[in-house]
Amino acid sequence: MRGLFVTFEGIEGSGKSTQSRLLLRGLHDEGREAVLAREPGGTAIGERVRDVLLDPRHTGMAARAELLLYLAARAQLVAEVIVPALDSGKIVVCDRYGDASVAYQGGGRGLGTELVREMNRVATGGLSPDLTVLLDLPVDEGLARTRARNPGRPDRLEAEPLEFHERVRRAYLDIAEAEPARFLVLDSRGPSEELTRRILETVRARLPR
Ligand code: TYD
Repeated sequence: MRGLFVTFEGIEGSGKSTQSRLLLRGLHDEGREAVLAREPGGTAIGERVRDVLLDPRHTGMAARAELLLYLAARAQLVAEVIVPALDSGKIVVCDRYGDASVAYQGGGRGLGTELVREMNRVATGGLSPDLTVLLDLPVDEGLARTRARNPGRPDRLEAEPLEFHERVRRAYLDIAEAEPARFLVLDSRGPSEELTRRILETVRARLPR
């Protein structure tokens, strides 16, 4: 038995967390077995790694150290949560996954997308999503949403300059363009109910029969 692996990606303030929760609720309403995970985190070990990664005091973190920490959290999540759920036939919805490292560390930090893809393969044993929803919007609008939600307390990544987030957005759009069959790209400024409807419809169409 093999379930379905769905990931959500996007820049800060793109509404991934909201839409991933709404998708989960929609799937449960239809009586389907689905679980939600988030990155970095989603396991006891991963949540501790998350605290290290997002702590604004860690200003001196080397880009490669940052990448390896995200990968460590991912490796744990894959082993502890994602693979067992997929093996028991469940739908796994994950708020960020490997594409986030390609976009943020490969694009944003400039480590290069090929290197990060290769390291992702090592960390995940090659487990790739069946469907990835990319919620896209202009960087200034995303950052404004994040600041409105969390005034005066940006985490270490949110505090990066506009150019960093522009590189992340560009990298996400490039990944999506290179793998059109895996991606559903939506303008996240559209009405929330319409986004949820399109996402649910796409997930249903991918479910194993
Ligand atoms: P989080 O608070 O979950 O942000 P969001 O709600 O926007 O997803 O923090 C996760 C941060 O980590 C976010 O700024 C994106 C970043 N990130 C990476 O840089 N690389 C990665 O591989 C992942 C998974 C996240």
